[in-house]
Amino acid sequence: MLKDYNALIVYLKNKVGIDLTGYRREFVLRRIRAHMMSLGLKDLKEYTRIVVSNPKERSRLLDYLAINVSYFFRDPWCWQILTNKCLSELILKRRNIRVWSAGCACGEEPYTVSIIFHELLKGRIKSYNIRIYATDIDRNAIEKAKQGIYSSSSLIYVPQSIKSKYFRYVGKDKYKIVNSVKALVTFKVHNLLINLPLKGMNVILCRYVLIYINTKGRKKVLHNLVQALFDNGILMLGPSEYISHNEYGLEPVDIRARIYRKRITPSDSLPHKSGWKANTLL
Ligand SMILES: C[S@@+](CC[C@H](N)C(=O)[O-])C[C@H]1O[C@@H](n2cnc3c(N)ncnc32)[C@H](O)[C@@H]1O
Repeated sequence: MLKDYNALIVYLKNKVGIDLTGYRREFVLRRIRAHMMSLGLKDLKEYTRIVVSNPKERSRLLDYLAINVSYFFRDPWCWQILTNKCLSELILKRRNIRVWSAGCACGEEPYTVSIIFHELLKGRIKSYNIRIYATDIDRNAIEKAKQGIYSSSSLIYVPQSIKSKYFRYVGKDKYKIVNSVKALVTFKVHNLLINLPLKGMNVILCRYVLIYINTKGRKKVLHNLVQALFDNGILMLGPSEYISHNEYGLEPVDIRARIYRKRITPSDSLPHKSGWKANTLL
């Protein structure tokens, strides 16, 4: 099985340009097995043959692996804590605010932050310069995010008062996010395992992404995310994503909600000038 798995991964990397080596093997295998079952297949070798010969199957497999499930205000209690303990304080201290939603799926997460800033600041939002950078490895998800149209299932955690203020019903169970919320968000395709990290962020959200990535990849991504934060910047992970925060120079703000603050970096431990290049992607 392991041999067959490795053969598929090497094929995808060398011939299709999709590098799954940083992903947890159990996760990839579980998804592939479920997909094979839906095709009535049991043998991974046979499935690999189909993937090799059929480009449509290759793109179906990738769709299947990129789990884009997301919700507005996913885990509402975490957003409440982030708002009360971090964002409310941030708007008192700064007029220029930069947020990165890393692994943003179809935009539910970055638009949630934008709604929170609108709610906190109301009419004063025009006197702030708030930029929310939202990135994902999946091009289709980013295209969908730019459209900003969602089914009611993505809005299950959205209170009615917020729904009527920030969404317009466009028929057939679809809701469109209003332009003022969209205006704060910039979307880009970006692979956390390969591309250079962004920089100068006050807040980074990376939720339900690390669970798919193996230990080595996760370390690299976390290191990059912390580098991307200003001192005292905030990192929020998904509630099931445990990390040993000390290892990354983070201190907990709320351990249950997986919200951390970057400790002030002593100048002698700053990255070497030649060792770390800032990303100019956005
Ligand atoms: C389950 S969704 C989470 C969405 C959102 N953060 C949330 O909490 O609801 C995981 C997202 O991570 C993205 N992803 C997976 N690996 C990635 C990588 N290496 N770089 C960037 N995004 C990645 C997937 O495409 C998917 O959209």
